[in-house]
Amino acid sequence: MRVLITGAAGFIGGHVAEAFRRAGHEVAGLDLRAAAGVAVGDVRDERALDGPLRGVDLVLHQAAKVGLGVDVTDLPGYASVNVYGTAVLLAAMARHGVGRLVLASSMVVYGEGSYACAEHGRVRPGPRAVRDLERGRFEPCCPRCGAALDPATIGEDAPTDPRNAYATTKLAQEHLAAGWARETGGTAVALRYHNVYGPRMPRDTPYSGVAAIFRSALERGSAPRVFEDGRQRRDFVHVRDVAEANLAAAGVREPGRLVAYNVASGVPHTVGELAAALASERGGPEPVVTGEYRLGDVRHIVASPDRAREELGFRAAVGFAAGMREFSTAPLG
Ligand code: UD1
Repeated sequence: MRVLITGAAGFIGGHVAEAFRRAGHEVAGLDLRAAAGVAVGDVRDERALDGPLRGVDLVLHQAAKVGLGVDVTDLPGYASVNVYGTAVLLAAMARHGVGRLVLASSMVVYGEGSYACAEHGRVRPGPRAVRDLERGRFEPCCPRCGAALDPATIGEDAPTDPRNAYATTKLAQEHLAAGWARETGGTAVALRYHNVYGPRMPRDTPYSGVAAIFRSALERGSAPRVFEDGRQRRDFVHVRDVAEANLAAAGVREPGRLVAYNVASGVPHTVGELAAALASERGGPEPVVTGEYRLGDVRHIVASPDRAREELGFRAAVGFAAGMREFSTAPLG
């Protein structure tokens, strides 16, 4: 089939393009940056979409402004690229009669993960209070009784609770895509990526994920700076696995609906473990746990990979140890 990948010159988009080419598909790309086989253009520009959308069966929408950003002055940029850009893309797909979309969504749509309270069962704590974070109380407590909680895995049907600009715009993209699917009879698949890492990950910027920040620090000979107490949990999933999940999602046919899948390794690790693994692979320096915090951060977010396994047949192939070994010396973007 012929697919269009937006953001095809980017980190994840580039790996998705390789996976589709390897699988024998014809790949068109659109990106702000020039790259081989990629048209240069902005998803917010409907004229830039016309050529690339011609004859396409499926769009993989990977173009986005990512990360936590710097401060509220970033808001218009997130809204414009992620929300308005997706709206322009969906309208153009309708005009061209393209009925299938795979959307790069994110686990950040869930906000704080799911937790178990010994007394109250499953609970979803609200944002952490500044006074708790200032005192080094990083673990969210039971919203009903204040007791300590155990993190539990989050499934796709959990209520969404975006906590920052990026998260809000990713959720808005899902809602726009669901509306598009209903109105056009198209199929939309939202892949909720967990913490993606791997070769060509963008270097250290305010928009980079923690794996790239640690890796860039080690390359400079500096210690990775681990925020909070380093025991916050994430699911680090390799970019080649994410590309495979996109291939699997290309087979979904659910006319008129948006279906969401967690794209995760299924084996969570702490941010401290991430720093330790990368530092050890590179022979130091040892990570430093700083106790700093960022207000937009959630404490733990651990996914259930079950639905993607059952319905897409997707199972991450790259384990944490092997993935970190490769990533410790892999080229960055
Ligand atoms: C990350 C991405 C988000 C993406 C999601 C799923 C960023 C900024 N966030 O969210 O865009 O949708 O994965 O793929 O790209 N930390 C440190 N030291 C640092 C930086 C961060 O310890 O120098 C900690 C943070 O406090 C946090 C954890 O590492 O606890 C993860 O941070 P990060 O990768 O930035 O954000 P996520 O919320 O996991």
